[in-house]
Amino acid sequence: MATKTLLLAGLLALAVSLAPHGAEAGGQPPLMIVSGVVPCSAGNSINAAAVPPFPNAAVQMVCARSVMASATADRTGAYTMNMGAATSSLLAPLLGNHCKVVVVTPLAACNASLASVTGTLAAPVQLLGIDSGTGGLGGLGGLIGGLVGGILNIIPLPFSVV
Ligand SMILES: *[C@@H]1O[C@H](CO)[C@@H](O)[C@H](O)[C@H]1NC(C)=O
Repeated sequence: MATKTLLLAGLLALAVSLAPHGAEAGGQPPLMIVSGVVPCSAGNSINAAAVPPFPNAAVQMVCARSVMASATADRTGAYTMNMGAATSSLLAPLLGNHCKVVVVTPLAACNASLASVTGTLAAPVQLLGIDSGTGGLGGLGGLIGGLVGGILNIIPLPFSVV
């Protein structure tokens, strides 16, 4: 996947450029946003569209063992976490696949039949790209150009009980 390789290279370059001199770049670094829907279900690679949602679930973005952001889902199970400005200390674990969305609320809260499930729902995440506010991803050039002041979208892959 050449595009993905270029994307990763661009993000790595961003991470490096942000490392010591983030404030001197002349613009705002992109905001990192993760959003999705929490499923009320146990299992592996849960298709959130095919099961009931998990209303009011508490979710956390965990990178390595650190909680980087948290949020509470709405009554439709939808949540949005703002991780703040993209910094190298956030991008590095993301690019290294060390981050996941973890559901803190026990599954029994949405379905008493799931009280016996041991483990927590967790979803790995991937970088979707940059929305520079000009209508979509805009290709790789827009992606890299949109890094300043845009939004870096992080999307969760399907949840599994782990
Ligand atoms: C609760 O979970 C059980 C076991 O997975 C399932 O059979 C049932 O349909 C669920 N109930 C609701 C309301 O989703």
